[in-house]
Amino acid sequence: MTAEPADLDALLELATGVACEAGALLLARRDEWVRTARTKLTPTDMVSDADHASERLIRERVRAQRPYDAFLGEEGGAAEGGSGVRWVVDPLDGTTNYLYGLPAFAVSIAVEVMGTVGVGVVFDPSRAELFTAIAGRGARLNGAPITTSGKDDLGTALVATGFGYDADWRGQQGRVVASVLPRVRDIRRSGSAALDLCALACGRVDAFYERGVGWWDIAAGGLIVREAGGVAEAVEGGPLRAGSVLAGPGRLCEALRPVLLEAEAAAGIAPDR
Ligand code: IPD
Ligand code: CA
Ligand code: CA
Repeated sequence: MTAEPADLDALLELATGVACEAGALLLARRDEWVRTARTKLTPTDMVSDADHASERLIRERVRAQRPYDAFLGEEGGAAEGGSGVRWVVDPLDGTTNYLYGLPAFAVSIAVEVMGTVGVGVVFDPSRAELFTAIAGRGARLNGAPITTSGKDDLGTALVATGFGYDADWRGQQGRVVASVLPRVRDIRRSGSAALDLCALACGRVDAFYERGVGWWDIAAGGLIVREAGGVAEAVEGGPLRAGSVLAGPGRLCEALRPVLLEAEAAAGIAPDR
């Protein structure tokens, strides 16, 4: 059983439906779920019943309609499939914001067909904003087409970034951002990589970079950026990959990349990290 290109509309419809359902659940039960916060690998890396409940809902809905698809979720890990379609899901991107009562969190769902992301959906329940893209057919916010800012001047660019949860790694990331800050308009750190990419896709920030991200953080947002006319690549260049994202209008990325690579080298970060 394989997915023909024509199936992308059906995949988008399913992804949109489950993302909205999971997002509504996250919003409705936040007061109850903040009390279930606990830590994962480091004291700063939190998880809660919300993350797990959202992923469970998405897995169940997808499996009910498409039992032969593979699935990769941040909390539940990988499940094999035989259809050539794989769902890549961050059931709650921006967990720290969620648990502190801050609005920037989202459900992120990418659908890969034969190894390539064909559909991307990011739903922000706080703002009732649904970002969607189908490969080759543009990006949308609540149904209306969106584009990046198109900015090419680094000195006046608003650049978003994010940080991981390991203390030593954050120290290195902090040294990189200290080098970037004097060379750009300003830095933003929303706490949700998926929403950073969507903000970029609709021109609310000009560029975004981060090392150490999971594939579930960036797979959907990466397609949404590309379909909004930007590029979404690895920091060191080449295709977007787990662990490395630099996104924005093409010429702005060309200007930012050498600044980042120089700052990373000085901070002891290898280009292929
Ligand atoms: C995190 C957020 C954050 C980014 C981190 C991610 P989580 O995801 O996207 O903005 O800086 O690298 O791990 O833990 O909230 O799902
Ligand atoms: Ca995440
Ligand atoms: Ca998450």
